[in-house]
Amino acid sequence: MAGRRALSMAVAVALLAAAASADSWLYEEFTTDGHVRADYNAQGQQVTSLILDRQSGGAFYSRQKYLYGQFSIQLKLIPGNSAGTVTSFYLTSGDGPGHDEIDMEFMGNETGQPVVLNTNVWANGDGKKEQQFYLWFDPTTDFHTYTIIWNDKNIIFKVDDLFIRSYKRYGDLPYPGGKPMSVHATLWDGSFWATQQGKVKVDWSSAPFVVNYKGYAVDACTSNGDGRPLSCPAGTDRWMNRQLDGAEWGTVAWAKQNYMHYNYCKDGWRFPQGFPAECSRN
Ligand SMILES: *[C@@H]1O[C@H](CO)[C@@H](O)[C@H](O)[C@H]1NC(C)=O
Repeated sequence: MAGRRALSMAVAVALLAAAASADSWLYEEFTTDGHVRADYNAQGQQVTSLILDRQSGGAFYSRQKYLYGQFSIQLKLIPGNSAGTVTSFYLTSGDGPGHDEIDMEFMGNETGQPVVLNTNVWANGDGKKEQQFYLWFDPTTDFHTYTIIWNDKNIIFKVDDLFIRSYKRYGDLPYPGGKPMSVHATLWDGSFWATQQGKVKVDWSSAPFVVNYKGYAVDACTSNGDGRPLSCPAGTDRWMNRQLDGAEWGTVAWAKQNYMHYNYCKDGWRFPQGFPAECSRN
């Protein structure tokens, strides 16, 4: 009896461990900082919540660094009044000067007002390459998938199944390609910047603010530092040579025409000396 119960316990524990490891991405891949909570939903998927209150925000950072790959996560943004908050999913080579970064940042808004998705690319410390979009759905009621594809030809931003931006590499222009990057997710107080150019601040009476992340997926070459050999998963062609085809450029044009809120290539006030070179080549 005791033996059988012990055995079934062992089996149950093994099954639980298997179920958990199938989708336990948070502590396996990331270091956490600030207010972070991890739980499982009814489907056994790990759901990570980042929480922002007056004291602190929350974040997780991958321990591994990558050089090219495909990175995606599902996000359910802060419901109601999220003005002043910034929720992010991004890649960065670090904080030093001349750093590289690829950003997806969600700028909160007042209740009923649209959240803006900021996409940006930093190459060698220059990050004035924002394109911002409204979304064609309410990002606070359900999870949606946000994907970054990064290879030596282009950086592609995707929302669910639709491509919204491709940032091309030109041989003579800076491009994030030499520095390995880690994956970051954060929730922070961006009152000075995020909402209506910083006019609307975080309303702390609505705190704590909670954003949920699940379904993290990484398919990428790892790198332990500059110049170290890379280790790439089998079948990197899935993303290593990925560029948009005609239909996919069609969705980029659709997003640009219908949902674009800001395009650095149209901001003459910001670039009085002339637009960055890539603006006239796309
Ligand atoms: C917030 O809502 C206002 C009013 O609808 C809009 O102009 C703005 O672009 C929205 N988003 C952000 C991030 O400010």
